[in-house]
Amino acid sequence: MRDRHVLVTGGTGGLGRGVTAVLLAQGASVTIPYIKSQGVEAFQAQLSEAERSRVRFVSADMSNEASVISLIQSHDRLDATIHLVGGFAMGPTADFSFAEWRQQLDLNLNTTFLVCKHSLQKMLQQDYGRIVTVGSRGAVQPTGQLAAYCASKAGVVALTQAIADETKGTGVTANVVLPSVIDTPGNREAMGADQADQWVTPESLGQVIAFLASPAAKDIRGAAVPVYGQT
Ligand SMILES: NC(=O)c1ccc[n+]([C@@H]2O[C@H](COP(=O)([O-])OP(=O)(O)OC[C@H]3O[C@@H](n4cnc5c(N)ncnc54)[C@H](OP(=O)(O)O)[C@@H]3O)[C@@H](O)[C@H]2O)c1
Repeated sequence: MRDRHVLVTGGTGGLGRGVTAVLLAQGASVTIPYIKSQGVEAFQAQLSEAERSRVRFVSADMSNEASVISLIQSHDRLDATIHLVGGFAMGPTADFSFAEWRQQLDLNLNTTFLVCKHSLQKMLQQDYGRIVTVGSRGAVQPTGQLAAYCASKAGVVALTQAIADETKGTGVTANVVLPSVIDTPGNREAMGADQADQWVTPESLGQVIAFLASPAAKDIRGAAVPVYGQT
């Protein structure tokens, strides 16, 4: 990934920090949009001075189309887009509010559409690009209490595979990874660390994502890659 320009949405999050660390170690330059400046400050404190010089943080909301357009236009060149923005809500469907259902679709699926749409426009002009999105095991093995999350992540898989089909014959590819449980601070806080050794670390998932985002992955299109660790 040396000298590649990569957009990592959700780059300040639990998974995003590990993915960014892998990309920086491989020589990439990374742009990270954010909403909350606390996440940026905490992440910057973890980076060396040399790494900080290759990360650009931009205040930008990935659920706002104008904001996405301006972020993507700020790149002279965009080699890869890794869209990690997303989140989780649970509850029985009979009691799930329509507002919360829509929030899940907005956060997981609609941000993916906006970021992919505008990345694609730039990448098709360049005739080169890598798009990597994040689904979930629940996208292909849905479970109770997670209908909105699973449905929105299934949408992410379908959208990514449709893009992969549309971009056949070009230098652009699109693939999606399907994590189960990631060993993030948020999950340790919510579930305890007793089973953390079975979870996938952000850096391990980052290696898979970085490969799909690299020039070497030119022949992989529309893959939904399970990354389940020992779970
Ligand atoms: N954690 C898991 O076990 C797990 C399992 C399967 C799949 N996944 C998926 O992996 C991805 C990352 O998960 P995570 O655990 O790292 O989540 P996280 O720690 O909550 O991080 C989410 C990131 O998204 C950013 N973000 C949220 N809304 C945004 C918006 N509208 N515009 C710009 N940035 C926005 C947040 O930035 P701000 O803080 O600035 O808002 C934050 O950096 C998600 O798609 C999640 O569904 C996670």
